Amino acid sequence: MERPTPPLHASRWGLNPEITFLNHGSFGACPHEVLAAQAELRRRLEAQPVDFLTRQAPGLIDEARNTLADFLGADPAGLVFVPNATTGVNAVLASYPFTAGDEVIITNHTFNACANAARYWAERAGASVKVASVPFPISNPAEVVESIVAEIGPRTVLGLIDHVTSETALVFPIEQIADALHARGVEVLVDGAHAPGMVPLNLETLTAAYYTGNCTNGCVHRKAPRSSPFEASGGPRSGPSSSAMVRTRRSTSGVGSIRSSTGPERPTPRPGSVYPKRFVSWARSPTVAGRA
Ligand SMILES: Cc1ncc(COP(=O)(O)O)c(C=O)c1O
Repeated sequence: MERPTPPLHASRWGLNPEITFLNHGSFGACPHEVLAAQAELRRRLEAQPVDFLTRQAPGLIDEARNTLADFLGADPAGLVFVPNATTGVNAVLASYPFTAGDEVIITNHTFNACANAARYWAERAGASVKVASVPFPISNPAEVVESIVAEIGPRTVLGLIDHVTSETALVFPIEQIADALHARGVEVLVDGAHAPGMVPLNLETLTAAYYTGNCTNGCVHRKAPRSSPFEASGGPRSGPSSSAMVRTRRSTSGVGSIRSSTGPERPTPRPGSVYPKRFVSWARSPTVAGRA
């Protein structure tokens, strides 16, 4: 097989030039420039640990939060750093005010660790999880929205929807999904583990209540060091606030790749289909109805 021409900025990364590295989704590499900035912060910490942690760190974290909020089009006040994207998902689910009989919608493309988390936290509260069957490959964005909306019932309170799906590499039309669920009184928690830096984001206009993501997975254009996830909540509403999201259960990508017997049935390619279609749909929603 012929190797592709190395990207223009390949020298900015320490990746072995003999290898065509493809799996930026699971564990991508970090550019030299970012590693240098990270090393400088460690040097400052080691030079004056107490001063760094008690006096410098809070300001640095605020600065990072503001920069990230700018990039994501988010309100910094609703943005928190969490250990990883799965923790962000768990934080929302663990503090969500489910009551017995409530329903949560996931899809057959949901990252498995997050599907397990949805089942775990819902079932603890006597709620249940419904799996929307999104065809694979998809023909158009509306197909995704329709298959999720079809699962909404009178007790549906939350949809846990991936922005970029892990195993099937689809970019879900998250704005349309969020708008459709929002219009039916269903809150949305977006698992955007791969999205920031890969697709444009404006969390302020997105009608999803919660968004969790990584600044590291997925795309070589992203520049944050490993373990730079965040979680955004759309301001005060009936669900939990970010400050209440403390009962987190940590779970990693490794866990996510292990199928549980209760995990959603994975999508099977339609007969005759050759390759998944990718699409990004990024219409700005005209209003943010219901946002306090
Ligand atoms: C859609 C999705 N959600 C969650 C995760 C897990 O991310 P993390 O390891 O940051 O928890 C991944 C990892 O690839 C993913 O693809």
